[in-house]
Amino acid sequence: MWLSEVMLQQTTVAAVQSYFTRFTSRWPTVADLAAADDGEVMAAWAGLGYYARARNLLACAREVARRGAFPQTEAALRELPGLGAYTAAAVAAIAFGARAVVVDANVERVVARLFAIGEPLPGARKAIRAAADAITPDSGAGDFAQAMMDLGATVCTARQARCLICPLAHLCRARASGAPEAYPVKAAR
Ligand code: ADE
Repeated sequence: MWLSEVMLQQTTVAAVQSYFTRFTSRWPTVADLAAADDGEVMAAWAGLGYYARARNLLACAREVARRGAFPQTEAALRELPGLGAYTAAAVAAIAFGARAVVVDANVERVVARLFAIGEPLPGARKAIRAAADAITPDSGAGDFAQAMMDLGATVCTARQARCLICPLAHLCRARASGAPEAYPVKAAR
């Protein structure tokens, strides 16, 4: 789950799929990856881009192997190499069942539309996070996060909100406004 999130940072699911399969066949466990040759891992990463992710992936695998396991809280995960705020929250919620507020670009858009947050980005991020926090359930936060991400990736996309097939249409203030794609509001440039 950690590997998939690191690969999916700035990269689409379609581009990641074959790399994910290759990595997990070649290095099935974190311990295997920790013991891997740096050059082989970098070569296997070739094509995915953002190579700092591969270097952090190895550093993280070695730190986790040294400890014996992944830490399970969002705060402790955040300390590992390559885990930013989003990835730490996603792993805590999806892998460990913690209540964490998971906000990536897709969730940001869905929440900005649900609540018709009119403040422009990036200033709106604080209000978006607060709104996401308010609707995150105490149990099942991982499934909730996954559902919000998938809704943003497949239905409520940046270009097209597709309200006719959206399960949240009846709750959505941006839809009620008649111009859902206007959210999140972009800063004037
Ligand atoms: N992109 C990054 N992480 C994802 C996830 N958990 N589900 C769907 N898309 C993602």
